[in-house]
Formats: sequence, C-alpha cells, structure tokens
Amino acid sequence: MVRRFLTLSPVISRLNLNPGIFLAASPSLRLQRQNLKPKISPSSTSNFQRTRSYSTTTRVSSLPRSESWKLDDDGLVVLGIETSCDDTAAAVVRGNGEILSQVISSQAELLAQYGGVAPKQAEEAHSRVIDKVVQDALDRANLTEKDLSAVAVTIGPGLGLCLRVGVQKARRVAGAFNLPIVGVHHMEAHALVARLVEHELSFPFMALLISGGHNIIVLAHELGQYTQLGTTVDDAIGEAFDKTAKWLGLDLRRSGGPAVEELALEGDSKSVMFNVPMKNHKDCNFSYAGLKTQVRLAIEARDIDVKCPVSSATKEDRRNRADIAASFQRVAVLHLEEKCERAIDWALKLEPCIKHMVVSGGVASNQYVRSRLNNIVENKNLKLVCPPPSLCTDNGVMVAWTGLEHFRVGRFDPPPPAMEPDDYVYDLRPRWPLGEEYAQGRSEARSLRTARVHPSLTSIIRAADSLQQQTQIL
Ligand code: KG4
Ligand code: ZN
Repeated sequence: MVRRFLTLSPVISRLNLNPGIFLAASPSLRLQRQNLKPKISPSSTSNFQRTRSYSTTTRVSSLPRSESWKLDDDGLVVLGIETSCDDTAAAVVRGNGEILSQVISSQAELLAQYGGVAPKQAEEAHSRVIDKVVQDALDRANLTEKDLSAVAVTIGPGLGLCLRVGVQKARRVAGAFNLPIVGVHHMEAHALVARLVEHELSFPFMALLISGGHNIIVLAHELGQYTQLGTTVDDAIGEAFDKTAKWLGLDLRRSGGPAVEELALEGDSKSVMFNVPMKNHKDCNFSYAGLKTQVRLAIEARDIDVKCPVSSATKEDRRNRADIAASFQRVAVLHLEEKCERAIDWALKLEPCIKHMVVSGGVASNQYVRSRLNNIVENKNLKLVCPPPSLCTDNGVMVAWTGLEHFRVGRFDPPPPAMEPDDYVYDLRPRWPLGEEYAQGRSEARSLRTARVHPSLTSIIRAADSLQQQTQIL
C-alpha cells in the first residue's frame, strides 16, 4: 500500500545557510544545473576505493570564491530516494524547503510476518514498488524528471541489498535525464531534516538520533562535519522497542515502537523495576541489549502467553503486559535522559554557542521520549527541535533535503552514464559512521566491532576539502 503525505507547508522561508561557496543562478533550472561544478560529494570516495563504483569518477574541481555566484534556492528541485531498511520512500523538495510531494510504501505486513526486517524479502518488496513510488512522487509534485535539479539517494548506512534498489533507481533516473546525483548518509538526513522545519536551526547544534539500528549523539559543527559523542555498544533503542513489542504479542504492523507506546499508556511505569543501563559508565554511550534481556525475563516470570495476541488477552494479562511496556519505556528513556545530560555538558565545552538539540529518527516520534527529553534540554537552556513524526521515521523528504544542502555547496557527483550494466558495482556503505569519535567518549566495548566499517562521512569531506585547498594553492 502506498501512503501519501500532504505538503507539510506551502512555503518555508529560506534557511540561514552559510555554505561559503555560492553557486550559479540562472533563469532556467536546466541551465542552472549545468553551471554547477562538482566539488566532491558526500558519496565521493577518497581513501576507500572500489572498482567500478560510480564515485570514483568524481572530479575534484574547485569553485573559486572570487566568483560571486548567487544561489537561487527556489529554483532548485531535488528528488530524494530512501530504501535503506523497510520503507520505500521518495519525495520532491524545493530549495526553499517546500515539500512538493512525499510518498512512502511501508513493509508492515512483512514486518508482522517475520517479526522483524528480513533483508532478502525487504529487497524484493523494494524492487516491486520502487518505480511506482518514484513516479507517484513526481506526479504528486506535478513535475517530470526534466524539471529536477538533482537526484539524492541514501547510500548508507543500512542493509546492502535494500540500499542497492534505491541507488540503482536513482542512477537510472539521473543517467536517463542527465542529472547530478548526491549520495546521502541516512543518519545525517535524520538530523538535517530538522533544519527544514526549524529555520532558526543553524550550526553548530547537537543531535540525538534514535532509530531501529542506530543510537548516536553527535555535535554538528557544520554541514558534513560531526563529532560523535556517543553511540550504542550493542543494540539501538528502536530494536529494544521492537523486541519488547514482539515478546508482548503486540500488533507489529505499524512497527513495534508505536505499539509499545500505546500499551504503555495503560500501565504502571514503576511496577517492574528494570535497571537503568550503564549507570557507572561516565561516558555518553548507550546499551540496550541488557534491558532487552530484563524485559524477556520479566515476561517469562509473569507467565504471559506471548502466542496469544494482546487483543485476545484477559484483563489481568493485558494489565501485566501494559505494566511491562510502561516500565520498559520509562527505563529505556531514562537511559537516553542521563546520557543526553552529560553529552550536552561535553558539547557546550566544545562549542559554547550551541542553542539547539535535535532529536530525530523513528523513536523520536514517541511522545513520552519527546516530553522527557524536552525537560532535560530546557534545563540546560537549550531548545529541543523534533521534526513531526512523519519526518522522524524514514522518509524521502530528509534525503531530498540533505541532498539539497550538499548540492548547494557543490558536493555532488556528475550524471552517471545513461546505460549501466546490471552487474555494476555500486558504492554502498552498509556500515558508515557519521562523525569522528570524541576521544573522551570512546568505548572499549565497541572497539572490537570496527572491521569493514567505511571511513566516516566527516573524514571523507575533510579529506576532500584539504585536497581541494592544496589544488587551489598549486
Ligand atoms: O528511523 P526509522 O524509521 O528506521 C531506521 O532507520 O531504523 O526508525 C524505526 C524505529 C523502529 O524501531 C520503530 O519501532 C521505532 O523507530 N519507532 C518508535 C516509534 N515509532 C517508530 N519507537 C518508539 N515509539 C514510537 N512511537
Ligand atoms: Zn532511519
């Protein structure tokens, strides 16, 4: 089923961006696009070469600051494609932040059937709907591919099989219509979509990004430049919500998080005394594996028949399940609160002028999460920025918007060839950190799991910028 969202806001004023480099304005979109010269895109490979991956073709060319080009934000229109996990999403967004269309096809039935995301089935589901989702996004925007300035697509992190479907589609559209392409980091997109909804949100700011696979807290210095203050040493909070929902026999068709949130409203959040994870770790890292085990043991101890769906449970059984849901949610969020408090103190030492903390990713659509974190953030004299729930969970708008942000400053790849062979090896980054780890926040528990991790987005952009500076000097 294809879900459609209405335009969020007809006009959102131009953001307070400071790209440093201005790009050419021209009366026609197509001309405007042709005048743009690629600098290096977030997807461009520096020290992580692959054979036949498209990014290796990127030229590193300079955009002289002396050329006082001006950007016509309203004229830019970007198509964003997202397939990193279980949602097939596409959206068209204008440079001024206007959302022209948003389409999502979710794999809710598969999720309920397999009790989680099954990569092969998810890939097949993406392949079945991707053409229709993209076409719908263009139709609803009343545009054709010829009206686009660029195509943005998530290239990581995520499931390789799923990422491939989106990247292949993006490259086919870009190749056929001679459009530049921007490879987008999924977690950066979760953070930056907040700048589309809150026009006061300028760098530097903090972001807590909480989803099914990620639990990171970063300091965003500027576009593409992030310091990772903390991450999870095992599972992310969304995974803990999903497993709790599954073990409590809840309806997974809207994913586990909303089901737990809803049932928790009926329960007593102090009835089961779960331990708050990592109490003695004086860092900003997270851990949810132990809490998951505590939940499983609590369910077993209460003799809950998990094979019986909650909708058919007795009153007492339902009450037991609600108590566990509420107690789990309270402690899971308390863990976020404690780590966020410390992270804000660290961040204010590094960047004393930060004013905002973004909370985004699927779990940020939870009302309890939002209100508890709002208290923490306000106590530290910062302002919480949470995108609306439809922009917190995976969507194409965040990809289009992040693509726009990088495109504006000249970070994109040139159009791919019109025809690419079926066995073309795409540049996909299933494990791709967003920022460089803050030394004080490093965790021994995670250091064993760094094999086959792509260099971070921040390090790639930093390397590209310094290469560019050297080229200018020569
Ligand atoms: O960002 P997202 O849509 O996809 C990933 O990148 O993983 O996040 C999905 C996660 C799932 O674990 C889902 O259960 C969780 O976000 N989620 C929620 C809520 N809505 C979605 N968790 C708690 N409360 C919610 N209301
Ligand atoms: Zn996500």
